[in-house]
Amino acid sequence: MSSGFLHQRTLHNPFSTQFYTSPSSSANSKKPLSILSPTVLLPLLTLIVVLGIFSPWLGVPQNLFFTSNPEISKWGHYTLDQALTFVAKNGTVIVCIVSQPYLPFLNNWLISVAMQKRHDMVLVIAEDYHSLYKVNELWPGHAVLIPPVLDVEASHKFGSMGFFNFTARRPSHLLKILELGYSVMYNDVDMVWLADPFPYLQGSHDVYFTDDMTAIKPLNHSHDLPPPGKKGRPYICSCMIFLRPTDGAKLILKKWLEELQMEPWSRTKKSNDQPAFNWALMKNAKEADLYLLPQEAFPTGGLYFKNKTWVKETKGRHVIIHNNYIVGFEKKIKRFRDYGFWLVDDHKQESPLGGL
Ligand SMILES: *[C@@H]1O[C@H](CO)[C@@H](O)[C@H](O)[C@H]1NC(C)=O
Ligand SMILES: *[C@@H]1O[C@H](CO)[C@@H](O)[C@H](O)[C@H]1NC(C)=O
Ligand SMILES: *[C@@H]1O[C@H](CO)[C@@H](O)[C@H](O)[C@H]1NC(C)=O
Ligand SMILES: *[C@@H]1O[C@H](CO)[C@@H](O)[C@H](O)[C@H]1NC(C)=O
Repeated sequence: MSSGFLHQRTLHNPFSTQFYTSPSSSANSKKPLSILSPTVLLPLLTLIVVLGIFSPWLGVPQNLFFTSNPEISKWGHYTLDQALTFVAKNGTVIVCIVSQPYLPFLNNWLISVAMQKRHDMVLVIAEDYHSLYKVNELWPGHAVLIPPVLDVEASHKFGSMGFFNFTARRPSHLLKILELGYSVMYNDVDMVWLADPFPYLQGSHDVYFTDDMTAIKPLNHSHDLPPPGKKGRPYICSCMIFLRPTDGAKLILKKWLEELQMEPWSRTKKSNDQPAFNWALMKNAKEADLYLLPQEAFPTGGLYFKNKTWVKETKGRHVIIHNNYIVGFEKKIKRFRDYGFWLVDDHKQESPLGGL
């Protein structure tokens, strides 16, 4: 880590801030650096900025512009299969799904993952070309885009149709990964790791998940799917899911997609993908082997950030903290800062995307 830090200090260019810990990615790092002489870099940056501003109005896919630059255009053709081959460790990959507005949260989450030495197996699923190029420039090979591209502007307003389309892609992306034969851990990027979650994935169940209910459970609570609540279904979070490439896990994802299609988006319902995930789990609990992760290790934000007594009682046993039960980027950042979880402030150099 310290060599990566010195490396970024001496080069003084915005593309040199990556560091590498695995031999496979350091081999990759040599290529991008070779094209980064100031004479190449400046026009390239200008081109990226100009295209970033005008391409939405031109209505042309951004990757068409980059075909003359082999370094950049290759990421437009980088397939999920190639990305998984490069990133997965022991047949397992950690994924998140981001669009441009979420990049600061991606960076924060990645720092916490890197602190547990699991960043090598992270694949960022980019929902726009900006995020794809940005992540791959700083950290080659760790971002992939699964077409088609969505409208970024519309995708980050919670409750909007664009947001719904954005979240509805989650089961579809995860299913593609399972069908390629990999196990996958999905995380929302408004999370922070305090410990390594993998030791908690005990047994050989199909789907692992966490409860989004704030009610306190006994420490020895059941690992079965919780009973339905007031809305006739459980309140499992679609924010943190681990799936094995089994028939049971694939069935849950297919049913999740079906539930989303059955209950199409409507403005009044302010839909997101979580209710559909819960219907899929509940209706198919007999067909798949489900596993509820322990609440003390994976509490909902509605419990963690609201009950100091509980946090004290369970101190040292928390694994992933989710910054939910609050709306708005600024509020989320402030809350993470207040709890010392906005790692971007003091641990920037520990991120694979240090320069972001
Ligand atoms: C690799 O994956 C297998 C099957 O999922 C698991 O049993 C094993 O513990 C894993 N090994 C390591 C080193 O993580
Ligand atoms: C969302 O998806 C629907 C159906 O695929 C499409 O008609 C609509 O234009 C999309 N909306 C946004 C804002 O992406
Ligand atoms: C948890 O512990 C209590 C008290 O020891 C016991 O009555 C209960 O059955 C246990 N619950 C489970 C799910 O094991
Ligand atoms: C907060 O946590 C404590 C300790 O677990 C519990 O006794 C109390 O009922 C909780 N308060 C609320 C409002 O849930």
